[in-house]
Amino acid sequence: MRKPIIAGNWKMNKTVEESIALSNGIKRNLFNINNLEVVLCPPVTSLSDVKDVVLDTNIILGAQNMHWEKEGAFTGEVSAKMLKTLGCKYVIIGHSERRTYFGETNETVNKKVKSAITEGLFPIMCVGEKLEERESGKTFDVVSLHVEKGLLNVDKKEILNIVIAYEPVWAIGTGKNATAEQAEEVHKFIRNLLAKKYDREISESIRIQYGGSVKPDSIESLIKEKDIDGALVGGASLKEESFVDIVKKASRVVKEK
Ligand code: PGA
Repeated sequence: MRKPIIAGNWKMNKTVEESIALSNGIKRNLFNINNLEVVLCPPVTSLSDVKDVVLDTNIILGAQNMHWEKEGAFTGEVSAKMLKTLGCKYVIIGHSERRTYFGETNETVNKKVKSAITEGLFPIMCVGEKLEERESGKTFDVVSLHVEKGLLNVDKKEILNIVIAYEPVWAIGTGKNATAEQAEEVHKFIRNLLAKKYDREISESIRIQYGGSVKPDSIESLIKEKDIDGALVGGASLKEESFVDIVKKASRVVKEK
């Protein structure tokens, strides 16, 4: 059975002090959750301190981005090895904000995915269509391009280390989440793509998270769906109360799933 994963993507929010306070609050409330993985992705400046807070708990550390090269003259960038040695297990790759504001393409996403795996990190690879793409009936084309190109030359062994996050761009930060049915339709489509590319057994073991305006009142219906294996949470992960609520509600649903 796939162990669901709920990750908080803090984006460019929280100073070190604020990060310590938030992660401490989350730890106090979620230390005994073990039927799903809880991942915190603070900004890079807070990784080390959040790691100290969650040490010896089930809470896992993740980063929001990385460069694909091992090291070198890349001012402002961070390598997979740096994140790994800092205690990160996961790294978000290809978030739509990186694609939109920082010129990330399917090709750079693929390079990052490959490099992360080589260094022993688990990529959370984001895919998803924009509003105009959905409205013009291109959702499946865009998502399949993101999946195919992002996973180019990723073999059967490597794919097992990847989490896919389906994040419709129109739902991110807009308060307008996809309905459970809309999300499930695309998750199922992604799983079928993976079955074609790899095989059915592999596709059944890969976790596909939903992301985009996940809130305490939407998590339950989403995670009840057969192919939705958790959530990537932005805005609602910045407050202890809402993030804890999301994880607890998801954990209850998972018990019965
Ligand atoms: P949101 O962000 O929950 O604020 O919509 C989700 C994400 O960008 O991962």
